[in-house]
Amino acid sequence: MRKTSKRLFALAMVIQLTPVSAALDTARQAELLYLLKHDCGSCHGMTRKGGLGPPLLPGNLRDRPPMLMENTVLDGRPGTPMPPWRGLLTEQEAHWLVEAMRRGEGL
Ligand code: HEC
Repeated sequence: MRKTSKRLFALAMVIQLTPVSAALDTARQAELLYLLKHDCGSCHGMTRKGGLGPPLLPGNLRDRPPMLMENTVLDGRPGTPMPPWRGLLTEQEAHWLVEAMRRGEGL
């Protein structure tokens, strides 16, 4: 491998390993809030007060481990109507969504 391509490879690795805390751009954040309201809202209620799925308000999520919630969003809950969103959402986006729900953002 030539030196420049080695450097480019290293750079690509660094970009890929950027921590999940790196901010999503505001356009994507707006899309995620729209998804939360309309897609997740079809089961959890447009104002997250619950329906077919349980409520997703800050008070309901306060005691839930965020990692568990992220896994639920990404992989769903087999045997329940909660579908997996992996493929539509990245891990970073699932993380952001869970934090947004915990803050009550967009309500
Ligand atoms: C087709 C209906 C449906 C859709 C759409 C749906 N969910 Fe769910 N969700 C459920 C059900 C039902 C459960 C409860 C599963 C169980 O019994 O463990 C659940 C559980 C959850 C939980 C765990 C809540 C807790 O208190 O443990 C989270 C978090 C969650 N959903 C987030 C989402 C998000 C975010 C979206 C959209 C990206 C979404 N859901 C879309 C039906 C749905």
